[in-house]
Amino acid sequence: MRHFRLFILIIITILSSCGDDNPPGGDSTDLTLITYSPEPYVLNIPDHFPEMIIPADNPMTVSGVELGRHLFYDPILSRDSTISCSSCHLPQGNFTDNLERSIGIDGDRTRRSSMTLLNVGFVNSGLFWDGMVSTLEAQAELPIEDPIEMHSTWPNVEQKLREHSIYPMMFRQAFGIEAYKEINRELVTKVLAQFERSLISSGNSKYDRVISGTDIFTDLELRGHNIFFDIEPDVSKHLECGHCHNAPLFTTNEFINNGLQEVTDLNGFTDVGKGALTGVTFDNGKFRVPTLRNVFLSAPYMHDGSLETIDDVVAHYETGGNIADNIGAVLRPLEISESDRTALMAFLRTLEDQDFINNPKYLSPF
Ligand code: HEC
Ligand code: HEC
Repeated sequence: MRHFRLFILIIITILSSCGDDNPPGGDSTDLTLITYSPEPYVLNIPDHFPEMIIPADNPMTVSGVELGRHLFYDPILSRDSTISCSSCHLPQGNFTDNLERSIGIDGDRTRRSSMTLLNVGFVNSGLFWDGMVSTLEAQAELPIEDPIEMHSTWPNVEQKLREHSIYPMMFRQAFGIEAYKEINRELVTKVLAQFERSLISSGNSKYDRVISGTDIFTDLELRGHNIFFDIEPDVSKHLECGHCHNAPLFTTNEFINNGLQEVTDLNGFTDVGKGALTGVTFDNGKFRVPTLRNVFLSAPYMHDGSLETIDDVVAHYETGGNIADNIGAVLRPLEISESDRTALMAFLRTLEDQDFINNPKYLSPF
């Protein structure tokens, strides 16, 4: 009889430790005891901005965005828990890392320069410099297993999150999960995307204040604005910038060759960009137009980080860029006087948005 009781006890112990609701070796709180009452996250989009398209299967909630913020800043998503998304997307660099090319988990360099995540939820033409992925959810799957970036595996990440002391409860609050094993890549990428969609301009940059009628440009800024957008009556002063970097996002999100690399023909690009995706030679050397909001914070510039300063960028456009069959149609050599250059810089400074990069909702929770 005693043996029988011991036998039963062992069986019960084995059964309960194999239960689906318990993480292997981790906490065994019954998740269903935690209240699930998701509250919609209200996006704070400036009035003069477009609408953001949010996938129907990933509505934003306060707890989802909060969990996404935690995971974005937590190195737990990388193989040996040493780097996080934020290692290459730092708030003070306008969510870039200010490097020519990023440094991944083993010290290797990424192929291209990191991109800002400011207003990334409005990108509707494909993410990455070449538009390779269509949604933030799909994008978030990639860095974790990328051998240069975080070099982990999804099963490894899922396991670590299921065993974590807090995350299972946060997943419960965000999605109403009932068992630890429900924490999976789909939910992780959903919350990362939710957090990224929340990264929106504050509407308090000088430019935005002028647009919403609560501030006015100085004469110098106004002149810079007018030469940037080709409103200046003297056509020889038009800088053409606004055709590709148009308001309010300061990008059309189109893929264009802005004449960065000198090539003898369209097969000569070091990085063919959009062309690798479409297989169309005419798309070689085309990259997505980046936003110019907070541009002074996100040096160095271009997909390959090859231009160090805004002065270098302006010097590049002054030449009209390297001619190629598919170069952006409006690009032409410019003669920019010293005073026009000063005015252009003054205008670009009005796009600086300190409230965005310092918003506690976007910063590390740790
Ligand atoms: C090792 C550095 C590194 C890490 C870590 C990293 N990224 Fe990136 N990220 C980059 C680089 C480089 C690019 C540009 C890639 C390209 O175009 O080929 C990029 C591009 C992106 C883009 C595209 C933005 C746009 O406008 O198209 C998003 C979104 C993004 N990263 C989110 C994330 C998230 C979420 C994580 C964490 C899961 C992450 N990144 C981790 C370096 C990194
Ligand atoms: C024909 C379209 C076009 C015009 C006109 C244009 N740009 Fe660009 N701009 C682009 C594209 C495309 C890129 C990205 C190219 C790349 O990375 O290879 C870019 C990149 C930039 C960048 C780098 C931003 C970053 O985060 O890396 C800056 C700064 C910039 N442009 C400023 C300007 C200014 C100032 C003007 C006017 C003098 C201007 N652009 C005119 C298309 C254009």
